[in-house]
Parts: sequence; structure tokens; C-alpha cells
Amino acid sequence: MTQPALDLVIAALEKIRESSDRAPRASRSLLAQLQTAPRVAASLPATPKSHEGGWEARASSARRRLQPTPNKAELLEPVRERVRACTKCAHLACSRTQTVFGVGNPDADLMFIGEAPGIDEDKQGEPFVGRAGQLLTKILKAMNFARDDVYIANILKCRPDTAPGSFGNRAPTPTEMQTCRPYLVEQIEIIEPKVLVALGAVAVEGLLGMRGTMRELRGRWHAYNGIPLMITYHPAYLLRNQAPSEKRKVWEDMLQVLERLERPITERQRNYFL
Ligand code: URA
Repeated sequence: MTQPALDLVIAALEKIRESSDRAPRASRSLLAQLQTAPRVAASLPATPKSHEGGWEARASSARRRLQPTPNKAELLEPVRERVRACTKCAHLACSRTQTVFGVGNPDADLMFIGEAPGIDEDKQGEPFVGRAGQLLTKILKAMNFARDDVYIANILKCRPDTAPGSFGNRAPTPTEMQTCRPYLVEQIEIIEPKVLVALGAVAVEGLLGMRGTMRELRGRWHAYNGIPLMITYHPAYLLRNQAPSEKRKVWEDMLQVLERLERPITERQRNYFL
């Protein structure tokens, strides 16, 4: 948030507090930025004199006096540290190589949410770097995004453990998802994306606590905490089912995302997989 915008928020919150019984509500990231406000408020006159112009004058005074505040990357660091040290799921803490927190731009407008790290992600400490991840990167490229333009995270920060000698990944259990979900909630609260994309039914269950088939869920707007949420197939599904019709469904979902973000869409982009 820019400094003048922050000043206006502070002034507006003060106005609401003064004129209403209802406490104003603000996001975690905004609250962190507002932490400097008491210092500002303390140094400002409680009741501005009429020639000082009321709350607007207080806002402009606040603008001059506000201290630098932590940015979103800085706000994510303590969460990353807590995830790194997390042992809430003792079995996963024992089996993981490392935790996989998230990657990308903390100021992103667009955030993707997957299920859990696989074997490659567990090795590299970064989400979506295996085959499904490479396909996600291709989808992003087709949308005119680099991985660094968006933010990518999973419901689970640890790879679900598998029996020794067994092959492939297992889905996270509901308990594992409930245990890990608060970390993702914090990431979303800090990043404040304009649009969320949930990749697959497991990500939807982890985020919204709602079970459904992808046929029912995908291709239309849902919401998470007031943030528009598009649900689409997990890229791993597209690796299993390479029919152009399925690729087109995912692409149509991504076109809706681009429209929602008011990004330009070329005719060529519109016609992919037709
Ligand atoms: N699948 C996911 O859901 N997340 C990853 O990070 C990798 C594969």
C-alpha cells in the first residue's frame, strides 16, 4: 500500500471508530503497517482545531510522520521460520527432507494453491518443480506470467510420507490439512492477492473445507475470505489426461482469471486448444 493510501486508511478507521459502535476491521498486513499509528496518533492533537481541517489534516500530518513499515516479504519471513521448525505432524516432520513454504512474488496479484509437495519439491524445497510444476510454469507462460510474477504455495508444507519402497505420492489426510492450513491462511492474509486459483479438489478441500467433484467445482468463481477464487484441474490431472478438451477447460479457467485481473488477452491466447 502506498503511503498516502495508508494515511487515508488510518484517517478513515479513526473516523469510523469515533462515529460508530462497531470496531473497524483490517487485514493482518494492514495491521502490521498500522503498528506505527499509535506513535503518530500520540503526537497529533486529539481534537484538531477547526483551521487545521479535521481528519484530512491529521492524515496529511500522519503522512509526514509515519515510520517505514515491514513489507510483505518481511512479514512472510517469521511465518516461513515457524513452518521450517514445525513438528505438529510428527510423522511428516520425521519423513520430510525439508519444508516447502512457497515461492514467488509476495506482492503478487495472483496466487496459486496446490495440494502438497511431491518428491521433487521435497528435495528442492520449492513448490511445483516436478512434472506437474513444469506444466504449471507453461500455463503461466501462456498467461504471460513468469513464476516470479505470481505466488505459489500448497495446503501442506511437508511431503505426505509414503511407506518405504512405495512409489508415487499420497493425498494429504483431512487432519494433516487442518493442521497445516493456518500457515496458508497467514500467507494469503499477508500477500492479499486479487485472485486465488485452487488446483484440484484436494486444494479446495484444504482451503474451503468443502468436498466436491471437479466437474461441479471448476470453471466458475468461488470466494475465499472475500477474495475471488477460481477452481481448476490440478496440472497432474492434465498429465494423466492429455485430451485437448481437458486442456481447453483449464485454459478457459485461466482466461477468466486474466479477465478478472484486467490483463490484456490476445486473439491467439483466446484460441489456444480450440
Ligand atoms: N503437486 C502439488 O500439489 N504441489 C506441488 O508442490 C507439487 C505437486
